[in-house]
Amino acid sequence: MTAAIERDPALGTGVGETAVSRPDQGPDEVAERLLASAARLSRNAMTEIDWSLPMEPDKYGCSPEWSSLYGTDYWDELTTEQRIALTRHEFASIMCIGIWFEMILQQMVITDQYLGEYHSPEFQFALIEVADECRHSLMFAKASEKMVGRSYHPHPKIGRLGKLFKLIAKDEVAYAGILVAEEVLDVFQRGCMRDDRVLPFIRTINEIHVLEESRHMKFAREEVRASMQGISAKRRHASALSVALGASLIVESLIQPQAYADAGLDVARARREAAGNAHFHSMIRSSCTHLMEFLDEVGLLTKPALRFYRKAHMI
Ligand SMILES: [Fe+2]
Ligand SMILES: [Fe+2]
Repeated sequence: MTAAIERDPALGTGVGETAVSRPDQGPDEVAERLLASAARLSRNAMTEIDWSLPMEPDKYGCSPEWSSLYGTDYWDELTTEQRIALTRHEFASIMCIGIWFEMILQQMVITDQYLGEYHSPEFQFALIEVADECRHSLMFAKASEKMVGRSYHPHPKIGRLGKLFKLIAKDEVAYAGILVAEEVLDVFQRGCMRDDRVLPFIRTINEIHVLEESRHMKFAREEVRASMQGISAKRRHASALSVALGASLIVESLIQPQAYADAGLDVARARREAAGNAHFHSMIRSSCTHLMEFLDEVGLLTKPALRFYRKAHMI
């Protein structure tokens, strides 16, 4: 499936594709190609995965190197069984935060396209994206049920902020916010889909998500570029700050403290060691390289925004 992503002409160069490397000519032209790609390559985890198969007890929920505790003293003290349980709860947390964000995203895209040009490729691809996200959230929900039998939610305050964000975010703020969440998960999932230490159904989920999100990221970049045309410096600065704030809240919410508790860990110690884990910070930073290049290119990487990205170890 990776090969399918890499050779899909609709997605440019695939892995590591950046806005800098391939300028496009606007949302409609890009959407036209993405529509054709979606018609050929859409996937459905509900029918593709045999959800009744038992889970192999020695398989991880994500690559151990992507655990927020990998490389810490606490990690060294854990047994293999504890490490497996930890990665399963951590990945379930990431999937549930993914659902939370995809629900925000669907509403933002629908609001943006509410009175759009219904005959245009841009409108039609936007609806494909909403349909994809709906299937993704269902797939993440089903996988969380199977892997850990519970849900995770962002902190209630962040949950309320998300509600506000989806009501007020428009244009470049909405689409750059969407792009941030998609880019961060992309590198993580690309790594885990190739790792045979990970549960096979989770690898399939990662494959499906990486494939379909590459189209969404392409679309989001075009929407951001189009929205940035001719905007005032004041609006650019305000948008940069809103995107950075949203991005840092999403990244900091990925692993919920309850995941440590459910894996049987000392939550206070796990949070302390994760907060100081240079290895995990470098994994987050590396997953954000292309995103930061793009934000810089379109003028959304302002100095105040940089402070939020640094705090979240995204740059
Ligand atoms: Fe998705
Ligand atoms: Fe998406």
